[in-house]
Amino acid sequence: MSLSPHMDISQNSKADQNHNSTAVPEYESLPQFGIASTTAYQLLHDETQLDTDPTLNLTSFIHSWMPEEANRLIMENIHKSQIGSNEHSNATIIHNRCISMLASLWKAPSGKAIGTSTAGSTDAIMLGGLALKKRWQEARKAAGKEYYHPNVVFGSNAQLSLDQFSRHFDVECRLVPVKASNNYVMDPKDAIQFVDENTIGIIVILGSSFTGHFENWTNSNKPPGLDIPIHVDGATGGFIAPFIYPSLKWGFDIPRVVSINTSGHKFALVYAGLGWPASHIYAQMFNFLNLGFDGYRKIAIKDLHNARLLSRALEENYFKVLSSIHRVLPGRHEDDDPDSYEPGIPLVAFKLSDEFKDKYPHAEQGQIQVNFILYNNIVLIVTLMTPLSKSMLRKKRWIIPNLKGPDRESETEMLRVVVRGTQSEDLTQRLIADIITTTESLMQAQSTDQSSSPNIGPEN
Ligand SMILES: Cc1ncc(COP(=O)(O)O)c(C=O)c1O
Repeated sequence: MSLSPHMDISQNSKADQNHNSTAVPEYESLPQFGIASTTAYQLLHDETQLDTDPTLNLTSFIHSWMPEEANRLIMENIHKSQIGSNEHSNATIIHNRCISMLASLWKAPSGKAIGTSTAGSTDAIMLGGLALKKRWQEARKAAGKEYYHPNVVFGSNAQLSLDQFSRHFDVECRLVPVKASNNYVMDPKDAIQFVDENTIGIIVILGSSFTGHFENWTNSNKPPGLDIPIHVDGATGGFIAPFIYPSLKWGFDIPRVVSINTSGHKFALVYAGLGWPASHIYAQMFNFLNLGFDGYRKIAIKDLHNARLLSRALEENYFKVLSSIHRVLPGRHEDDDPDSYEPGIPLVAFKLSDEFKDKYPHAEQGQIQVNFILYNNIVLIVTLMTPLSKSMLRKKRWIIPNLKGPDRESETEMLRVVVRGTQSEDLTQRLIADIITTTESLMQAQSTDQSSSPNIGPEN
């Protein structure tokens, strides 16, 4: 006898046999009666077949592959939750070991760091921001000063989560405009103009989601007379910089850096969802043990190698590349040593070159990913009929966003490819060929008055 609360096939064999004719519930309200677990599985399984292939989704920073042993470990522990488990449970012990490995990777003074797993950087930024706010409030109270008008300073290239923090926790957001001349990231000299005694902290981004650049903020950029703490948003760069640029100063070795966040599901190479489930904490530790420092370094070197391959091919063909990880530093030459290039995360941001735009003024950059038509403000995706649409990247199953630049730079459109561990050199070569063919069909296509390319903000 089965004790499972899930209906099995014998209880509801009719529904199961007829599963082809069973309509997928509309999800508007809870169905009155259940269906067999096999049928429910099959219905949802069939629907998931329409999902895009994560490997070809180059919009996303989210890691989508782990080795078989990690998958097994996750399945063995998927029913366990970390929250609520007692403080000596395995999950808690392994969680704390993960934190201490991160603390040493980010150069925290030994034994001094505290930390926690979260679902991602978004909630970690809320915690880091709240700590900044509390610290500021306490100091103001102790000094007998008013503590009702806190503000936080960060660049206009910031990911949405930073703005969410300021709105959710009533902290005035002081957005430092970024400029093309500073690679679309915050310039510390500009940031200082926004700081005053009510500034709870400055948030520095290690790996801009627009162009992949690191914001550079060392102790030399101290606002005069004020000791403003720094939170580092290392959502992406927190798992690239330590392996590739060990001598770069960005972490707890800068005394004013008080907190750092990263996303396990990005370059720490676990699936999305770290936080509540014990299984994901085990999966993170699995990677730490399985890859070690050297393994993470090798993967990051490969990602950067492929990102450079793509960048160079784009610069040779119709595009200007806005990211910098392929730019050789003075006195160095092109090789596979990441120290020979400007630092950053493996991300390639690019746009059609000015020469291309002068020669083909009808060509719209957004059409490289997919042909959009705006009709009564409703976006229709054209996938049939036009010769161009057959060759567009989306049709070839690549997903590459065409982003608006940050804030005052929103006139600039940028295509963005995140080069992750799942992207091989072969796949990169195919991507290059597809981008070039698509661009060449755009050159031949006629402009249409209705054509337009909607832009979207950066994604996770
Ligand atoms: C710089 C930066 N900060 C924060 C986030 C949010 O991260 P998460 O998806 O882990 O919440 C992202 C996501 O891409 C990011 O790139």
